[in-house]
Formats: sequence, C-alpha cells, structure tokens
Amino acid sequence: MSEIVLESLGKTFGDFTALADMNLTIANGEFMALLGPSGCGKSTTMNMIAGMLRPSCGAIRFNGQDVVDVPMAKRGVGFVFQNYAIFTHMSVRENLAYGLRAQGVPTADIKKRIQAFAELLQLESMLNRRAAGLSVNILQRLAIGRSAILEPAIFLLDEPLSNVDAAFRAVMRSELKSLQGQFGQTMVYVTHDQLEAMTMADRIAVMDHGKLLQVGTPLEIYNNPADTFVAKFIGAPGMNILQGRLSQSADVASVGVPGVGSIPLSPALQSAVRQLTGPEVQVGFRPEQVNVAGAGLTMHVGLVERIGARTIVHLERGETTAKAVLPADVALPKAQSDWTFAVPQEDIRLFDPKSGQALKARTH
Ligand SMILES: Nc1ncnc2c1ncn2[C@@H]1O[C@H](COP(=O)(O)OP(=O)(O)OP(=O)(O)O)[C@@H](O)[C@H]1O
Ligand SMILES: [Mg+2]
Repeated sequence: MSEIVLESLGKTFGDFTALADMNLTIANGEFMALLGPSGCGKSTTMNMIAGMLRPSCGAIRFNGQDVVDVPMAKRGVGFVFQNYAIFTHMSVRENLAYGLRAQGVPTADIKKRIQAFAELLQLESMLNRRAAGLSVNILQRLAIGRSAILEPAIFLLDEPLSNVDAAFRAVMRSELKSLQGQFGQTMVYVTHDQLEAMTMADRIAVMDHGKLLQVGTPLEIYNNPADTFVAKFIGAPGMNILQGRLSQSADVASVGVPGVGSIPLSPALQSAVRQLTGPEVQVGFRPEQVNVAGAGLTMHVGLVERIGARTIVHLERGETTAKAVLPADVALPKAQSDWTFAVPQEDIRLFDPKSGQALKARTH
C-alpha cells in the first residue's frame, strides 16, 4: 500500500517560489503524470517526494505517515532521474545487480530477478556488455531497469524518455505502462510531453509557474480543461481559443466572433455565461471537433498540411486564428480561399477572458 498525499506543499529558493500550495493525492497503484512546461516545478515536486529536497512548507505523507524527516534511502522509493546515472565501467548485469546487492538480497534471487527483468526490458542479449559502449536508448532502458528491479512501492520517473529518439520513445511508453500494470507500484511520472501523459497516465496533474492547475483523467482534462492554459497545452494542436462577444436575440444567447460568425449557446452554457461581468468571452473548441458539413462559421484557409491520415488546416480571419484537424475521408478545403464550417454546440467551451478560467457548464 503506497498512497502519496501532498498537502499545501511549497518550495522557495530565496525570493523565488518554485512551488506553491500543491495539494494532490496519488492513490495506491495509480500512474500519475506531472505535466507542464519547462521550469513549472515538476522536478522540484519530485525531488521533495523522493527526499532529495526539503519542502519549505506543507506535508508529504506516504500511507498517512509524514515522511518529510525520513531520509531518501528509507522512503522506499525508486527514482529514475532525467539524467540517468549509470555506472559505465560496469556491465549491464552488474548495474542491475547493484541495488539488490546493497539491499542484501541473496545471490540466487539476484540472478533470478536479473533474468526476469532483462527479459522484460529486452536486455538479455547485452547482459555482459559494459555500459560504456551502449546507445542512449539502451542506457535509458537500463536506468529504468536498475530502479524497477528493486520493486519499489513508489516509482518516480523524471522525464525518463526525453533523451531517447522518437521511435524508441513510443516503444518505451507502452513498456513502462505494462511494467507498472504488472507490479502495481504507485508511479509518478514527470513529463513536458502531453502525448506521453495522455497515453500512459491514469490521471494527469497539469502545472504551470509553480502551481497545480488541474488534476483529472486524460479524457476529463481533454474534454473539460480548467482554464485556457490547460486547454492549449493538451492536444496537438491544442484547443482553439477565440475572442468573442455575447449577444442576445429573443431568448437565445450566442457568441459572436468578429468576421467569423455566430455560435448559438447550449442551455448549459447559456446559464454559465451569467457569471460573466461583461460581454467579452473566450470561445474554445478542439481542432478535431470542426464539422466540415456544417455552416455558421467562415474563415480564410492558409496552409493545408497533410500529415498521413489527418490534415491540419490553418484558419485565419483578421486577428483570429484557429486550426482544424480533418480525417482522410472528407473533402479538404482549398488553400487561400474562404471556408465554411461548424462546431457542434456540445463541443463549445467558454472561458472568462479576465481569469482564463472555464465557465462551468454541464459536462458530457
Ligand atoms: N536549487 C535551485 N535554486 C534556485 N532556483 C531553482 C533551484 N532548483 C530549481 N529552481 C527553479 O525553480 C523552477 C522550477 O524548477 P524545476 O526544476 O522544478 O522545473 P521543471 O518543471 O522540472 O522544468 P524542466 O522541464 O525544465 O525540467 C525553475 O525556475 C528553476 O530555475
Ligand atoms: Mg525537471
């Protein structure tokens, strides 16, 4: 059992606040991704969970017990650093054995576990090779193996795939996921790559500037981002955010985007816009939700990028820009022409232009 609770956790370096008021509960056996841009405080958070960095305020609890005063070696965590630390003068086998030996595991057991993990991580053929001559991809696999072989109750990985090439990253994504499924450790995985977080994590904690912005399952965050930052950070391309103005005709509230068109609001959003103090509002919709058969919105088509099975259409009108992602089987708009489309009412999201916060509406 290893539940991790971060309670009002904070870290300052002199005058600089690297992390402020972080509250997060990571369930036993959960795969939690800490996701955010460079400098947002991901490693700071991880280092505090691991015991390498002392919090300035707040508590860290493992299964209800405050661990702030417990040294790293006694916390029962495995940690794979962004810059993997492999003993290059040792063989792959010796690297894998190192931690087990330090723990006093009997030699016969060490042998068995190395065999099992080498198989799992496809390192069997190179067990006797010296680490010094191995590729970055293999070293990264070894760094993960060396920590995973200790079967820690809590496994912390800080951007373990950022140095490896794209094809290998895709392979490792699924391997790490199945490794965690097999051992059921509580996993905290730091990344700035939203695709990694979306494909692997049970839940994602999105951070920016030392703050936790939203915690949820990948789909919750994709469908109902808490604010415009999360909306744009998740998805490739991210959510379109357009500047709009509320208007009321008869009993129907709609949002007009200058030069683009008008979007009638669903009943849920009609009630949500009542919290706004002025007519300005930000309208969000995902590029994938653009409906080519519909009408109502018109924009100028700039670039049309065909990327294999999908096409990204770059749209503009005056100051307003947006993107549409279209599947292979639809008629594509022509570059440098006007194009009319729609966005289904239920896929429209609204944000307060002052705070960037989502206006709460019924979710679907
Ligand atoms: N020891 C330190 N002294 C002063 N500032 C620090 C220290 N460690 C981190 N910081 C600052 O705290 C902020 C958060 O750093 P952190 O390493 O947690 O970011 P990160 O989200 O892991 O970023 P990256 O994706 O680049 O690894 C950064 O602005 C960083 O410069
Ligand atoms: Mg970092």
